[in-house]
Amino acid sequence: MKQIIQLDVNDEVHEIAVQPYDSLLRALRETLGLNASKRGCDSGGCGCCTVLLDGKAVYSCMTMAMQVKDRKVTTVEGLGKVAGLDPIQQAFIDADAVQCGYCTCGIMMAAKQLLAENPNPDEDAIRKGISGNLCRCTGYQKIIEAIQLASER
Ligand code: FES
Ligand code: FES
Repeated sequence: MKQIIQLDVNDEVHEIAVQPYDSLLRALRETLGLNASKRGCDSGGCGCCTVLLDGKAVYSCMTMAMQVKDRKVTTVEGLGKVAGLDPIQQAFIDADAVQCGYCTCGIMMAAKQLLAENPNPDEDAIRKGISGNLCRCTGYQKIIEAIQLASER
């Protein structure tokens, strides 16, 4: 049976009805229409669905919507707007770090946590920071350069 919960997403509180088995990813995409977080494997293996939960990167496909009530969820839609992109978003554009783009939003969220905890990561730290996110287009070098660029800025 559905239950009503309050979900704080990108600093906006939404009251939504969810089933006990609904993932956060499903609530974001199908109930709130926030489609930046992607469904890849839907089983914790690819990172396409990564969002921040109280500032920590989590797989939203593996997080139940009911678990996150009263906590802060940030998706890439909350990082910045077209008129004022987050430095990570701008760096991905400037470093040409996007191919098909399916992994990109999840990797940017992992990078957001990484740079919040370590503003000047070396390449090894960047690789480790995004190790939970797969890019099927395999453009890792430019992704790493984008995160380095964001950290320099
Ligand atoms: S869709 Fe969540 S980890 Fe792959
Ligand atoms: S850019 Fe295509 S999966 Fe990463």
